[in-house]
Amino acid sequence: MSITVAKTAGFCFGVRRAVELAERQAQANGVIYAYGEIIHNMHEIARLERQGVRTAHTLQEIPDGAKVLIRAHGVPRWVYQMLQEKNCEVFDATCPFVQKIHRIVDEQSREGRHILILGSAGHPEVVGIQGWCGGSDVLENEAQVRAYLDRPDSTERTLAVVAQTTVNRNLWNISVGLIKKRCTNLKIFDTICKATDERQSEARLLAGASDQMIVIGDKKSSNTKRLYEISRTLCNNVLYIEDAAELTTQGLRRNGRVGITAGASTPAWIIKEVSNMMSEETKIENGEDFAAMLEES
Ligand code: F3S
Repeated sequence: MSITVAKTAGFCFGVRRAVELAERQAQANGVIYAYGEIIHNMHEIARLERQGVRTAHTLQEIPDGAKVLIRAHGVPRWVYQMLQEKNCEVFDATCPFVQKIHRIVDEQSREGRHILILGSAGHPEVVGIQGWCGGSDVLENEAQVRAYLDRPDSTERTLAVVAQTTVNRNLWNISVGLIKKRCTNLKIFDTICKATDERQSEARLLAGASDQMIVIGDKKSSNTKRLYEISRTLCNNVLYIEDAAELTTQGLRRNGRVGITAGASTPAWIIKEVSNMMSEETKIENGEDFAAMLEES
């Protein structure tokens, strides 16, 4: 058996930046409150908690005057206002790529455009984006895009379309194609994060060349779910696990090629634990072949 770990597996730039900022501030101040789970990974949240990073699910849980970290997903504009009223010191780890979406939807709303967001309704990043829009609709899949376009008012509107940073590239392409056919007064902003694109492309290549794929990440992580969906279309033996402990209960292959990828919120130490669980004889490759293929494509 050979194992290939995707080069893009694990923390993206934005998540790493947020985790490092939280660690630094907790170290300097003893305690910092993360507004919402800093990342979708319970193991990493528990590790950070031990260092003084507390998770507040509501603003009421944050004491007045506390130090507060805004996670990479970003938050609606009103959250900054509320934290200011509570005299909190804010450490903003909103990913710059998400901040860019906030600026776009803010500007486009001011110009009178209705905002279409391709992404998962209720996901914290999408909730944050909606908090910088005037009117908006969230479309999660092709059926919802078609249903939206069938609405009598949809084609009369001036629209701006953006994507949640982790949206599946295929869904974006199909949706933009459909919207362009029906709406003329339209602005399109491709806001899918490059890190997402690269991770999905590498997962595609790896899944197509593997007898089994192991996708590591929290079940709440939307970008990990996308990697799982993509892998399933190209490989008929895909495991979706949260950590190494789940490997023992699931059907691990003992021969052939096994590919491993992980979501943007999966820490390197969990990926390492999983690859270490594999057989001693296993030849571990580092994924550079796939990275080279990506660069060439
Ligand atoms: Fe930012 Fe892209 Fe990660 S938007 S949080 S670098 S997936």
